[in-house]
Amino acid sequence: MVHPVVLSYVQIESILAARQKGLTSVEVSPDLGISRVNAVIAAAGVRFPSGEQLDWQQVEKIKKAHNNCFIVEDGAIKTIQVFSEYTNRVCSLLPTQHAPSMLIAGFTMHRIVDTDPMQDTLQKIATIAPMTGRVLDTATGLGYTAIAAAKTAEQVITIELDPGAQQVARLNPWSRDLFANPKIQQVMGDAFEVVQTFEDESFARILHDPPVFSLAGELYGGIFYRQLFRLLKRDGRLFHYIGDLNSKSSGTVARGVIRRLQEAGFTRIVRRPEAFGVVTYK
Ligand SMILES: C[S@@+](CC[C@H](N)C(=O)[O-])C[C@H]1O[C@@H](n2cnc3c(N)ncnc32)[C@H](O)[C@@H]1O
Repeated sequence: MVHPVVLSYVQIESILAARQKGLTSVEVSPDLGISRVNAVIAAAGVRFPSGEQLDWQQVEKIKKAHNNCFIVEDGAIKTIQVFSEYTNRVCSLLPTQHAPSMLIAGFTMHRIVDTDPMQDTLQKIATIAPMTGRVLDTATGLGYTAIAAAKTAEQVITIELDPGAQQVARLNPWSRDLFANPKIQQVMGDAFEVVQTFEDESFARILHDPPVFSLAGELYGGIFYRQLFRLLKRDGRLFHYIGDLNSKSSGTVARGVIRRLQEAGFTRIVRRPEAFGVVTYK
């Protein structure tokens, strides 16, 4: 399958450095750092082996856009950004030096300060390792937690509310397995409602990685937690992302989360500050 060329200012740096040195080709990633190809540098612009070309004006535009990634199609560059009519929120792909994150209504969906979205994902997964059996991932986003869980789990069910977020994931080279791995089943809908449709004790692991409290308050509420308690198998484990437990605002949210998890039936709750969340057991 031929994938489109997707670039950010990070890849552009090597193209411009090669041009400045007077080189006629450059090794560059056509997919935000996953793979590398040799692109031709010419007077008019840069040409990828897939045939896609950018002129120097387009290269300059990408260089200046530190908050966006671009898809190159038929000689045009398009920002990977979607206005979601369903949620009235703008979703976009945010470049980093490593895997990109997603911005929704201006909030990043992964940790990117002193870490990157993949490290962030692996830290979340590690809190409830081994990732075995059937896994529920309550908030798909770019699918990084679902993809990582599916490496060892039997099946991963992942829920996304926002078609705009799914569209951004579809254009993200780092999210390809979300659409290609048969172990991952995507469900579009509100996790608050979708979880009510699953059977008791049908998941060995639950990854609960919601957006910030202000974007999805009901995913931090007692009614939702009682559903998660119902769904989790005996000896099951749940990771709940909250935010920096040592910060004032997330510390306050965490105290409320822990109290409501206890009220929902979870008796053992362990703070995992390195993963910005808590783990609870059933
Ligand atoms: C922090 S991101 C999840 C990141 C994801 N775990 C990953 O690895 O990329 C939260 C996601 O939850 C979605 N979301 C928000 N409210 C939701 C809801 N009620 N049900 C399901 N998904 C929701 C957002 O659109 C966003 O894509």
